[in-house]
Amino acid sequence: MKSYNFAVVGATGLVGRTFLKVMEEYHLPVKSLRLFASAKSLGVKLTYAGKEYEVEELKEGCFVGTDFALFSAGASVSKIWAKVASDEGALVVDNSSQWRMEEDCALIVPEINIDDYKDKSRIIANPNCSTIQSVLPLKALDEAFGLKKVTFTTYQAVSGSGKKGLDDLARCERGEKNQFYPYDISKTCIPEIDIFYDDGYSKEEMKMVNETRKILHRPDLKISATCIRVPVPVAHGVVMQAEFKKPVDVIKARIALANYEDIKVLDDPKNHIYPVSTIAAGNDYVYVGRIRKDLAVDNGLLLYSVADNVRKGAASNAVQIVKKIIAEWEH
Ligand SMILES: NC(=O)c1ccc[n+]([C@@H]2O[C@H](COP(=O)([O-])OP(=O)(O)OC[C@H]3O[C@@H](n4cnc5c(N)ncnc54)[C@H](OP(=O)(O)O)[C@@H]3O)[C@@H](O)[C@H]2O)c1
Repeated sequence: MKSYNFAVVGATGLVGRTFLKVMEEYHLPVKSLRLFASAKSLGVKLTYAGKEYEVEELKEGCFVGTDFALFSAGASVSKIWAKVASDEGALVVDNSSQWRMEEDCALIVPEINIDDYKDKSRIIANPNCSTIQSVLPLKALDEAFGLKKVTFTTYQAVSGSGKKGLDDLARCERGEKNQFYPYDISKTCIPEIDIFYDDGYSKEEMKMVNETRKILHRPDLKISATCIRVPVPVAHGVVMQAEFKKPVDVIKARIALANYEDIKVLDDPKNHIYPVSTIAAGNDYVYVGRIRKDLAVDNGLLLYSVADNVRKGAASNAVQIVKKIIAEWEH
């Protein structure tokens, strides 16, 4: 198999370090690897496949010869440098929100819409973490019953805010004052993720609305979302209230979900079998359970999904995109 030149931007961050781990786990064919972060990390050494690499600073020309550039350094860095990387010849997979809704950029969950990258620009966007673990079960159920509308309620782990979130939870658990979240996250859930718009929705909530429509190719799909930060280190939970065109059946729903790539059904609540963060953390499955008919609407289902936000919600989804593209190139 051919091997390729890789760059990881934001390599010292939570997602960046996970990129390195997942790239190794998925046996990506890496010929060379360059790591980038901010000036403060210049010279920091990180290990990939048993070899140490020094972190470098971004500069013009640094992506020449790079085949794949994986970005996880935030939207402001991606706005400038993902474009530079793509102009210098790299195929970019970007984890920030910067390019997701650009007409010319594909927004990909590889199990659903890998082909969307064709005929688009050389910047592929990785969706928002909560969106990824929601669209996978929704796509499976859409194929079975025809999705009509959906309402999301999320329970998002602090690692979704990166290192700052994990540090604030640890700080508050030690009894020190909160510095990052507006309240003590060790003692409360916080219904605020990202900035708020004038209509009362947060930017995180609108990411779920807009990105779900784009990935499912359903620009008119009716969607609402409420996003809540919870005192959990890793793995988000999402409650979905979904309404369908056809009559729904819980057994058929379980079968459709269990047969879909990378979904695992855990649904025997009387025996305490349902998705929990401690089961999802550290692997790349989307766990789904608590599947039941919605008593409030006709043809409605209620379900709960849990997935590792740093892995399937970010690094692993990006690495799976690269892996599928390489497989296609070599086909
Ligand atoms: N955490 C999640 O669950 C998750 C899920 C989906 C998407 N994402 C997205 O992934 C991105 C990174 O998130 P994270 O959780 O890994 O954050 P993080 O732990 O705070 O890491 C941020 C990374 O960006 C680097 N960086 C910051 N400013 C930079 C600059 N000017 N030039 C180059 N590198 C710079 C940092 O380098 P230094 O160490 O040198 O500061 C660090 O490597 C964000 O866009 C986030 O929205 C995160």
